[in-house]
Amino acid sequence: MKRILVTGGLGYIGSHTVVELILRDYDVTVIDNLSNSEEKVLDGIESICGQRPKWIDLDLSDRSRCHDYLKNQKFDGIIHFAAFKAVGESVKKPLKYYMNNIFSLVNLLRYVEKNVNCAFIFSSSCSVYGEAKKLPITEDSEIKSAESPYGNTKQICEEIIEESSVAYNLKSIALRYFNPIGAHPSGKIGELPIGVPQNLVPFITQSAIGIRGELNVWGNDYPTADGSAIRDYIHVVDLAEAHIVALERLLADKNESNTEVYNLGSGKGSSVLEVIEAFKKATGENLPYKISQRRKGDVISAYADTKLAEQKLGWKSKKTLEDALKDAWRWQKNKM
Ligand code: UD1
Repeated sequence: MKRILVTGGLGYIGSHTVVELILRDYDVTVIDNLSNSEEKVLDGIESICGQRPKWIDLDLSDRSRCHDYLKNQKFDGIIHFAAFKAVGESVKKPLKYYMNNIFSLVNLLRYVEKNVNCAFIFSSSCSVYGEAKKLPITEDSEIKSAESPYGNTKQICEEIIEESSVAYNLKSIALRYFNPIGAHPSGKIGELPIGVPQNLVPFITQSAIGIRGELNVWGNDYPTADGSAIRDYIHVVDLAEAHIVALERLLADKNESNTEVYNLGSGKGSSVLEVIEAFKKATGENLPYKISQRRKGDVISAYADTKLAEQKLGWKSKKTLEDALKDAWRWQKNKM
């Protein structure tokens, strides 16, 4: 049984990935300090797969505690999700973001440096592309100067991984997510936003259930067919499965270079207004909204070219936007 460490394994994407790993008989250890998750996520995971992963409550940016724990461990792979991710907060507290996101990565890579056969998967973001010149976005699109300290941590972390992979001969894959949405179809795990959700789908479900007021559509004057901005929404379970495929590629030594990078998206762009209509159709719920000013830092349109992931990983998203919205809605109702 291969031992896999999942950092941030009680978070949104992490918890769905833990489920897929356990279902495939991996021996999973989670490190999570509950900075943006809750212990009860373990109950959700256990009720889906009949098994509770080992859980270590550890702040990965704490070098000595991280070293003390990892020095006695033998992992075949690490999937590194643990990071702060609130774009707005990162602008107000950049040092908090650099400390946490960068130190955590470096501390983990110190372990991988001594255990070079340990496969390393990193959670990156399509935000590295900014407003891309060409759509759909391929992996070799230009990396733009980051719009926020959060986005910058993703770029810097990718660079640290690439340089370390070359210098220490490590095996790594960085996965650049487009917009992960939805929840596990069981309704037992999903996203747990703190405070007012900044992301579109959690705001939609909270608004539809009555926790929030009207949804603001940030801008209807973009140069798109209906004027609202376009994103590539990908079901979190599809995304979780991509992590397994990437991990198995490294475990089987099938990677073609020490650092590979893949876009993970559905390949399809949907506008904010299309998402609203899809939500209404998928759930039968009403969703009042109003048009507001554009949100600072938003790009007009971003969707993935998914050919590389299809060719090299043999992975393609299977679930539709409606599936994701139905699952997000089920999760929202269960949480009440
Ligand atoms: C955001 C982050 C991105 C991060 C990703 C993770 C920003 C600028 N970018 O992407 O770095 O990797 O989340 O999921 O925050 N929208 C509304 N009303 C709302 C909320 C959103 O109209 O109340 C619109 C946005 O303007 C955007 C689309 O919905 O056009 C998606 O927004 P969101 O879910 O926040 O994702 P991104 O901004 O694409």
